[in-house]
Amino acid sequence: MARKALIAANWKMYKTPAEARAFVEAFLPLVEDHTRDEIALFPSPALLPAVVEAAHGSNVAVGAQNIHFAEEGAYTGETSARQLTAVGGTHTLIGHSERRQYFGETDEIVNKKLHAAIKHGIVPVVCVGEVLAEREAGLTEQVLKTQVTGALAGISGLAAQVVSSIVIAYEPVWAIGTGKTATPEMAADAHRIIRAQVSGLLGADVAAKMRILYGGSVKPDNATALLTQEEIDGALVGGASLKPESFTAIVKY
Ligand code: PGA
Repeated sequence: MARKALIAANWKMYKTPAEARAFVEAFLPLVEDHTRDEIALFPSPALLPAVVEAAHGSNVAVGAQNIHFAEEGAYTGETSARQLTAVGGTHTLIGHSERRQYFGETDEIVNKKLHAAIKHGIVPVVCVGEVLAEREAGLTEQVLKTQVTGALAGISGLAAQVVSSIVIAYEPVWAIGTGKTATPEMAADAHRIIRAQVSGLLGADVAAKMRILYGGSVKPDNATALLTQEEIDGALVGGASLKPESFTAIVKY
């Protein structure tokens, strides 16, 4: 069964609202006829209203890079799922490796955030991936299985349609922002491990429908080789998503 790919831009902590608006204004005409893949932009919270407004009515969705798991409360500096949907965000990244590395996010926190996103009808993009030392020690498979199992705890009882709308992004940490990309074969192997784990946890039907993106130094010149792998259902793009031309080249791989 064909899965519609998702090409996602993770802007990290870059751009002002004016710069973000200028990006969207330049980008939309470049992709307005593009129906093969879904497209989503993930700006910082401060840019969300500007990006939502600029992308309104287009084929480009907008999401957050992070949400908090609580409904509301005394969590200084955080953004809730309800706040995200109220400003028009429809997607969220969860458990990006920079969140895990710098902000102490564990699989348990990732799981709580996933439940919060689903509760609010937000499409979650759950990030998993091994660090270099884990790959070199032959631990990639074990790490991916542990992260996927932790992220998806308590999900199996939910409606199949909801569960299969979860997106997983495989991002080997050693490939993020380093210019080192997993080879298409390495990425596809990791995706097969993830899909097999999802199948074991949630069933073969859900696993066949779930999209698994690749992220980590995706650029215009390696996008085609990665995205034409049958196991790879889209890309999560950092650095190369900051300019409309290079992100468009990836969208149109
Ligand atoms: P990169 O970032 O494309 O700059 O490697 C990817 C990501 O962090 O999602």
